[in-house]
Amino acid sequence: MLVGPLLIGMPEMRQSSLVVVANRLPIDDSMAPDGACEWRRSPGGLVNALHPLLRHTPATWVGWAGGTGLAPTLPDVDGVRMHTVPLNADDLRDHYEGFANATLWPLYHDSVEQPVHRRGWWEAYQRVNQRFAEAAAAVAEPGGAVWVQDYHLQLVPGLLRTLRPDLRIGFFLHVPFPPPELFMQLPRRAELLRGMLGADLIGFQRAQAAHNFAQLVAKVLELPATDRRIGVADRVVRIGAFPVSIDTAEMAALAARPDVAARARRLRQDLGEPEHVILSVDRMDYTKGIEQRLKAYSELIAGGHVKVRDTVLVQVAVPSRERVGQYQILRDRVEREVGRINGEFGRVGEPAIHYLTQPFDRAELAALYGVADVMAVTPLRDGMNLVAKEYVAARVDETGALLLSEFAGSAAELSQAYLVNPHDLEGLKKGVSTSGCSVWTASGTWQLVHQAEAC
Ligand code: ADP
Ligand code: G6P
Repeated sequence: MLVGPLLIGMPEMRQSSLVVVANRLPIDDSMAPDGACEWRRSPGGLVNALHPLLRHTPATWVGWAGGTGLAPTLPDVDGVRMHTVPLNADDLRDHYEGFANATLWPLYHDSVEQPVHRRGWWEAYQRVNQRFAEAAAAVAEPGGAVWVQDYHLQLVPGLLRTLRPDLRIGFFLHVPFPPPELFMQLPRRAELLRGMLGADLIGFQRAQAAHNFAQLVAKVLELPATDRRIGVADRVVRIGAFPVSIDTAEMAALAARPDVAARARRLRQDLGEPEHVILSVDRMDYTKGIEQRLKAYSELIAGGHVKVRDTVLVQVAVPSRERVGQYQILRDRVEREVGRINGEFGRVGEPAIHYLTQPFDRAELAALYGVADVMAVTPLRDGMNLVAKEYVAARVDETGALLLSEFAGSAAELSQAYLVNPHDLEGLKKGVSTSGCSVWTASGTWQLVHQAEAC
């Protein structure tokens, strides 16, 4: 079974004028219940941002297909050629789970969890980056463009420039780029910056990230740098903010489909026809603020501001990076808290929280967005957060309320959302923001009112 509308054709080995290099391919192998291998859409925002852009483009996508075996030969996906790069068990542990997701990921997200530093992980990071660079060099046409993605592959632009100086190279970071005082903690900070500077153009989600990068390059590498241009030997590297988005027309069309609208109505019935449905959709990640949100919700119920019969919270939290310790601890804590809240406040057939960990296809997600009166997107730090944009696009009747963290990249664009500080529990409960407040009235209804009226 393939989750999502991906068209699969037969593979062809050719060089391409456009090559995308990302740690993940847009599909990965996962085990079907009967033990057979099945291909499905990869998790996360990177794939959902890039896939619509590349569809039916004669491009090659270089990436990892999940798992640790030999690199499988994959068919084209929506006309894009798949070129797999294998990771063995050591690469998976030291590169993907280690340097990428236990060192860089927490550091780039404000150190909301403590970054782990292990000397052996750096060697794996270099080795895997070299492998991706060689794979990209092999499939890029002379003079072609190669677009390298995200924190797993920061050395690839530099390595690729050495292998193929004829190419035009772009790099895009999907996650935040941290302020200098955090980045300076990295023992290999100079190498990481130099690796990125192998690109001709470096893109970030927000202007602040480009500014942080320029400051670091000036300080660590002593190169002339502004927020737009960096001088490297005989070249100029351009930098800037290019926030990623979704195919809004596609999401709106999906949400407007009669079967999806009918599914949304059915979901409301299945939820017991509550007055208010609050929805959150996250990867199970400590950056997403799931624990803080549950605590706020639980306190609102305990304080009598929310009545479980009138209001339900649907929390979708699809498991992620499950072998990394911090993610295992988070999942345990979230599940314990959901159990506690349901045990304490739910009744038979009336849980306070509907908790789902399954991956859904796009139509089911659109139906979930359709049933949600309030969408709570409250990460502690997030490069962009496409879920917030998907919710807005899916509300084709222009109703609904988006409660959005100030620390999500999308907050810079979705200025009409109700902005909250997820670190401030009282603030989260009230939904206080610069543009508005969300308050629970005595009758238990969720009202979104202007700050002046509520605060
Ligand atoms: P991140 O990139 O950190 O995962 P984003 O919000 O930018 O966060 O992107 C998450 C993407 O994953 C969105 O496009 C969303 O639709 C998708 N997604 C999240 N949960 C699920 C799920 N349970 N099933 C299918 N897709 C999901
Ligand atoms: C974020 C990262 C992506 C990553 C995705 C899913 O969106 O920016 O690079 O692919 O999360 O994470 P995973 O570890 O499953 O690839």
